[in-house]
Amino acid sequence: MTSAVSESSKTARLVLEDKELELPVVVGSEGEVGIDISSLRSQTGAITLDEAYVNTGSTRSAITFLNGEDGVLRYRGYPIETLAEHCDFLETAYLLIYGELPTSDQAASFREDIRHHTMLHEDMKSFYNGFPRDAHPMGILSSVVGALSTFYQDSMDVHDPDQVEVSIHRLIAKLPTIAAYSHKKSIGQPFVYPKNSLSYCENFLHMMFSTPAGDYEADPDFVEALNLLLIVHADHEQNCSTSTVRMVGSSNANLFASISAGIGALWGPLHGGANEACVNMLEQITRDNGNVQKYVDMAKDKQNNFRLMGFGHRVYKNRDPRATIIKTSCDKLLQKLDLKDPLFEVAQKLEETALRDSYFVERKLYPNVDFYSGVIYRALGIPVQMFTVLFAIGRLPGWIAHWKEMHADGSRINRPRQIYTGPTRRDFVPVDQR
Ligand code: ACO
Repeated sequence: MTSAVSESSKTARLVLEDKELELPVVVGSEGEVGIDISSLRSQTGAITLDEAYVNTGSTRSAITFLNGEDGVLRYRGYPIETLAEHCDFLETAYLLIYGELPTSDQAASFREDIRHHTMLHEDMKSFYNGFPRDAHPMGILSSVVGALSTFYQDSMDVHDPDQVEVSIHRLIAKLPTIAAYSHKKSIGQPFVYPKNSLSYCENFLHMMFSTPAGDYEADPDFVEALNLLLIVHADHEQNCSTSTVRMVGSSNANLFASISAGIGALWGPLHGGANEACVNMLEQITRDNGNVQKYVDMAKDKQNNFRLMGFGHRVYKNRDPRATIIKTSCDKLLQKLDLKDPLFEVAQKLEETALRDSYFVERKLYPNVDFYSGVIYRALGIPVQMFTVLFAIGRLPGWIAHWKEMHADGSRINRPRQIYTGPTRRDFVPVDQR
């Protein structure tokens, strides 16, 4: 394992009018090269312009390595395939947040810390009465997570490691409870309290599906599938929601406020919300007699806003390794349950058709993490509006790890600049003369 970042002896030379600048080159532990432009403005008066941050490295990070050309994803150096096979979600969360896999004592103590905080303050339940019955659970999740900051005013100091630690435990413990309550609210059933004798995933399924009238015993295959899904979603370096968490956290906003903002970013259909949008699309195609060619053609038509949901990725220009893991698990689960989901068949047909089409081949558009995950969630009985909520539960350790790393590195407030394109100075005209 090597993990050094070196200031390479190489430099990049930039010439702007009569000024020539020698810029340091930074090389990451996997050989990624970045040109350090932090002195650019002070030396030349110019800034870089990189809309949508396609070429911008916003930070150095030791958490997740991603190579989109080769389809590689590693958390703290461990391949995602290995972690998905050998770890459970809480071990993976520990790895991301603290940097190393836990010993058995560390894992036991971490699990105990999480168990201790699974319940919500009773007063928080009253918030749920204020939301409309058909409220989207992502809206509820973001609001209630933000509201944790009003209940835990004892842990708001971002520079106090003990306060940060208890906030981390509270968040990981309570997010499944907050999520399951939002589902119960939407179907008019009473909230089910967490049961601390159960594992993290079993407990979530218990809170989702038990009722006071009948206990729910989670099928071990469901628990395994959920565990795997949470692991593959746990981190993905500087994606939109993680960058949001870092951005908000850079102002020294507390962890609850930062995560609440990240949940909002994840909700969008171009990001985590794609899993819900993807299943809605697969349902529509199924109703349309499985006519996948029609939807592939629509996605290619530049006059049409339609896109194949669950397809394409900013970084992966090869198969998304998470999609491969999820597809295998999906296949295994459906076979084991002896379930024939027409959506899985349509999804496979759609994938085959798109990957034969030069439009998708030339643009290197492959199925992403959201393409098959919904089929598994459906098999577990999770309603479609909860899919992105499951993504948020999975992504939480990644968000926390990045928030912590950012503070540990002593980063400054994140504040991009802009190239102003509005009117130059003009004279004010009183309202009666306009
Ligand atoms: N269907 C059809 N065409 C697509 C798709 C798609 N799903 N994705 C990209 N393209 C096309 C674009 O139209 C563009 O074509 P052009 O070069 O002719 O203009 C080209 O491929 C590049 O696409 P961009 O939008 O520039 O790529 P970008 O990196 O900005 O966007 C994104 C990536 C948002 C993921 C995009 O592929 C997309 O919208 N996919 C569908 C939504 C989705 O599945 N999001 C989940 C991503 S994974 C995650 O966030 C967890």
